[in-house]
Amino acid sequence: MDARAKTDHAAGRAAHLRAEIERHDHLYYVMDEPAISDAAYDALMNELKRLEAEHPELVTPDSPTQRVGGKPAEGFKKAQHSRPMLSLDNVYSIEELTDWDRRVRELAGGLPVKYVAELKLDGLSIALRYEPAAHGGARLAVGITRGDGQTGEDVTSNVRTIRSVPLSITAERLKKAGVPQSFEVRGEVVMPAAAFARLNEEREQQGLPAAVNPRNAAAGTLRTLEPGIVAQRRLDFYAYFLLVEGEYLAAGQQATLDALAALGLRVNPHRKLVATLEEMTRFIDAAEAERDKLGYEIDGVVLKVDAHATQLRLGYTGRAPRWAIAYKFTAKSGVTQMRDITVQVGRTGKLTPVAELEPVFIGGTTVSRATLHNADFIERLGVKPGDWVKVERGGDVIPKVVEVVHDAEHPRGKLRFQFPSTCPECESEVVRAEGEVDYRCVNADCPAKLRESLLHFGGRTVMNIEGLGEAVVQQLLERGLVHGVADLYKLTVQQLAELERFAEKSATALVEEIERSKKAGLARVLMGLGIRFVGERTAELLAQEFGSIDALMAASAEELERVEEVGPRISQAILEFFAQEKNRALVEHLRKAGVDMTAEKKQRTTQLAGLTFVLTGTLPTMTRDEAKARIEAAGGKTAGSVSKKTGYVVAGEEAGSKLDKARELKIPVLDEAGLMKLLEGEAARE
Ligand code: IVH
Repeated sequence: MDARAKTDHAAGRAAHLRAEIERHDHLYYVMDEPAISDAAYDALMNELKRLEAEHPELVTPDSPTQRVGGKPAEGFKKAQHSRPMLSLDNVYSIEELTDWDRRVRELAGGLPVKYVAELKLDGLSIALRYEPAAHGGARLAVGITRGDGQTGEDVTSNVRTIRSVPLSITAERLKKAGVPQSFEVRGEVVMPAAAFARLNEEREQQGLPAAVNPRNAAAGTLRTLEPGIVAQRRLDFYAYFLLVEGEYLAAGQQATLDALAALGLRVNPHRKLVATLEEMTRFIDAAEAERDKLGYEIDGVVLKVDAHATQLRLGYTGRAPRWAIAYKFTAKSGVTQMRDITVQVGRTGKLTPVAELEPVFIGGTTVSRATLHNADFIERLGVKPGDWVKVERGGDVIPKVVEVVHDAEHPRGKLRFQFPSTCPECESEVVRAEGEVDYRCVNADCPAKLRESLLHFGGRTVMNIEGLGEAVVQQLLERGLVHGVADLYKLTVQQLAELERFAEKSATALVEEIERSKKAGLARVLMGLGIRFVGERTAELLAQEFGSIDALMAASAEELERVEEVGPRISQAILEFFAQEKNRALVEHLRKAGVDMTAEKKQRTTQLAGLTFVLTGTLPTMTRDEAKARIEAAGGKTAGSVSKKTGYVVAGEEAGSKLDKARELKIPVLDEAGLMKLLEGEAARE
């Protein structure tokens, strides 16, 4: 094949792979219905990456390989909205909603009034502009935050990392949705509960203050200057408006949501056309009942007049449409008296003030402690022991004090609270580094740090040692049985049986649990070590890439950064961690104890997985069987006849009808050298 023909083949193959990857992204991230295994998906992605590496001229900005791409060098540019992004007026009760519905019907002057009921997602609104693409479809051009409603920030590089946002939309889909090549989508970016929990776990490990709620976390994430970090946070996007030439669709809101779904965008499945107050109430009640099971935060229900003509008749007030309203749920909160403020020391030595409360029932659980975040927060609220406080429980499980309640029935507390200047556990000095909000205990041997490290190590997402709870850890420390996490592996049944509330049986069970944890694998050990910035997902990726603690410890910054999602900040933290003698000693102790610090390396030999080859004709040096064996060894399959599902046809001398069929179906054709190259691509990556 000459160079030109090769490039043509590569171009065809790349286009095919992109379409396949986009289809699977849609199935996975939008429809929640994955159709292929992760390995098969990776194989497609890897092949595309390899093709693009070999033919850089084929890289398109909307290629799925380009989700995490260039970062904005100095902050985000301002961008003007095509039409203002308005807000919503709120109601807080069915009575208020009834009034609103009456007003709408009056103003509609006899025009039909039906509403589309949607969930009010607790995230931040964003506008996505799509523009004509060379393939006849559309491509994501810009993503803009709401900002002040007129002007927002161009956060395109970050929005691109959100997997439910299509980078490219095919002509077919545009046609199906009845939408031209240029249009704008508006909707809500949210941080799913699981992503939020993981983020806070990581922040805690890093000694950073916890993010207050998923909305703030999502907003902060979208404004992060490192798209790689944004990609890790797994934000999600739900579309609810579609603008063509700055106008809403004439067909109405229900049809808009259908068109958005047809375009391949994620539309929240909880939506319903409702006509009466009774139907609205039912939707609201159902939403409130489902609220905790959704996996993302909502703070109410939005009702939008469906018909566009009626929307136009109703028009807008200064800041919000008259044709839509937000019914807000009342926050899950309660008022109670705060008995005292105590201070907790964390694994990293961070001091967190905690409100000790008269137990109060909030959103289904009894709350007796709530976080006060840090010294500044206490100062800002001016809260004192004995005060009555309002406590909220959001999507994050940790309850928090949000304000001081003060009226005739709730007198102010009289006691003063002084943030401690020494560690409440070891009485060492506490310091607050410049620019940080938290005080930390400086004592490396602070018993609280050790206790928290042990609890962390045994935690469910780490080494998962059942039975290693607070009471046990406390006793182990008091009796001097452990001085570091590695000592756990020296504990004997006899020693444990002497602990309070322990018997032979429970001691044996714990020893077995500890023994079992030795096989938890490298990823969990990495989490257990408590390296800054290395949370669950990063640990998993590092383990897969390096396969052993030794390989990881020997890695350079450059090698570390080859791992997806690892940037300079993380690589630095890893290098610094292993540069410390005591950390290297810890690794050695764990090794001696028999802790498995290896992981299955990501199978490189499945690079051709998901690809089917058809062999035809006589190859110059390889026999048919040899070629077949090599393809299969690399995870590929071979088949006897050419179909649309064929990935490549490998053709030699005197290739016949199969070659013709391949050309007809535009399936890329390789000669032996081409096949070798594909296989060597394999070898080179080993
Ligand atoms: S409609 C002009 N629909 O709520 C109409 N907004 O409190 C405004 N929100 O800024 C948007 N879910 O960030 C709409 N299904 C939904 C929504 C929703 C959440 C947010 C949005 C808006 C805010 C207003």
